[in-house]
Amino acid sequence: MAGEKILIVDDEKLIRWSVRRQLEEWDYSAIEAESGTGGLAQIRSESPDLILLDVRLPDLGGIDVLREVKQNHVATPVIMITGDPQLDDIKTAIKLGAIDFVKKPLDFDELQITLSNALDHSRLRSERDVLRDEVRKRSGYHEVVAKSPRMVELMNFVRKVAASETSTVLIQGESGTGKDLVAKAIHYDSARAEKPFVAINCSAIPETLMEAELFGHERGAFTDAKAQKKGLFEVADGGTLFLDEIGELSTYLQAKLLRALEEQTIRRVGGLKDLAVDIRVIAASNRNLEQGVHQGTFRQDLFYRLSIIPIFIPPLRDRMEDVLPLVEFFIERYNFRFRKNVKGITKETRELLMEYNWPGNVRELKNAVERAMILEESDCIRPTYLPIQVTGQVQDFDSAIPVTADAESGGEDHSATRGVAKWRPLPSGKLIPLLRLPKQGTSLEEVERSLVGLALRQSDGNQSQAAKLLDITRDALRYKMNKFGFEVKAEDTPE
Ligand SMILES: Nc1ncnc2c1ncn2[C@@H]1O[C@H](COP(=O)(O)OP(=O)(O)OP(=O)(O)O)[C@@H](O)[C@H]1O
Ligand SMILES: [Mg+2]
Repeated sequence: MAGEKILIVDDEKLIRWSVRRQLEEWDYSAIEAESGTGGLAQIRSESPDLILLDVRLPDLGGIDVLREVKQNHVATPVIMITGDPQLDDIKTAIKLGAIDFVKKPLDFDELQITLSNALDHSRLRSERDVLRDEVRKRSGYHEVVAKSPRMVELMNFVRKVAASETSTVLIQGESGTGKDLVAKAIHYDSARAEKPFVAINCSAIPETLMEAELFGHERGAFTDAKAQKKGLFEVADGGTLFLDEIGELSTYLQAKLLRALEEQTIRRVGGLKDLAVDIRVIAASNRNLEQGVHQGTFRQDLFYRLSIIPIFIPPLRDRMEDVLPLVEFFIERYNFRFRKNVKGITKETRELLMEYNWPGNVRELKNAVERAMILEESDCIRPTYLPIQVTGQVQDFDSAIPVTADAESGGEDHSATRGVAKWRPLPSGKLIPLLRLPKQGTSLEEVERSLVGLALRQSDGNQSQAAKLLDITRDALRYKMNKFGFEVKAEDTPE
């Protein structure tokens, strides 16, 4: 393609001149250097698209220049020019990464083909690099906020893990700490990045289906096996298989998994052949697997095999330095998604966020920010829109709350907060209440009662769902319903 910049490094003036003339005729642009050091200077200042490099040079030899170029990770393709081809030179140059050789005296037809091949090759490679960067941007490290010393250290470790291509990784941590995220970061920073990242949640699939899901089946292996099916091990071949909630895997499948890991082969259900697979397995668990080993629910040998590289993601409450950087990260993300322009959070909000202990970890924080950003009209997130758990204050938004408090509250106008609850639709269409600070003199019981009422209404009287909304058990909900005189329907018995 026209216009590419080619650097000629040769001490013979006549050669430089004739090559340059030829290159320009082919519509390339040409620059020259007559020595190794001169060549290196040109490479730095001009960033050529390709380098034609003579092996014999007066100062630095061509091989030394090549070595220097490659050590600095310059991706520019290098074609060596040699007068008397010595096998040793050629071997060394190829090993160092020269893409091709041309002989002196130069055959220009041959040079043209060599050049165009080399440039095609590097163009393809840079397109691939761009694609790969894109993928990484979406799933790599910069999706992971890690400011606390513990997380900085953890991410440094993760980088090393990504570089080791095959070792099995076990990620443990409470729910919402970022296990999925870290698994993806490992995959997308490894040489496997362009191959599939396949995730499966071991607790979501019944055991009977799980085996075929993982290992595939042959036609007729069981009643429903009408056709042959590839398992996830085969689908993810060359890439990474992420086994989430590995603690839920049955002991039978644990044994099968162990065998697959040890032998790097799998056998489809109903199959006779062993199939070789090249897989990195990343397993995750939010339960303590070691405890499972002690209790006999998790195979010890598999535990050892998986935990060759163990990663423990600490709960958010043990790395509170991450809270504000995470908030900033999520604000930026939701500003983009909701087309908002929230600048930050108020001092009170900050204090509340730092005092809360985040049992739901990063996921809970993320949801809190998302919700506040939807509701906040100003450009700074105020405590008003934080979840009740975080503010520690129960809020008044329900007509069920008696209005009697008004009289005692010193004539303050509560009309805005009184009466019918205010609702605002989420993008998903779901309604959520606008929370308001409680009126002075509102008793805890009244607030509780109104919350129960609200949850029941929001879930259309479905008690399981209402209990979930309130994060209490169904029994507790029924107890409260009785206490506050809500009608407990007979047909809504426990499932
Ligand atoms: N360090 C972090 N930086 C940015 N986002 C994070 C971070 N940690 C977690 N998140 C986000 O929090 C949410 C929960 O994380 P993730 O799904 O990885 O948790 P998990 O440990 O796999 O939870 P579970 O055990 O419930 O599967 C995700 O939306 C994730 O993007
Ligand atoms: Mg997860």
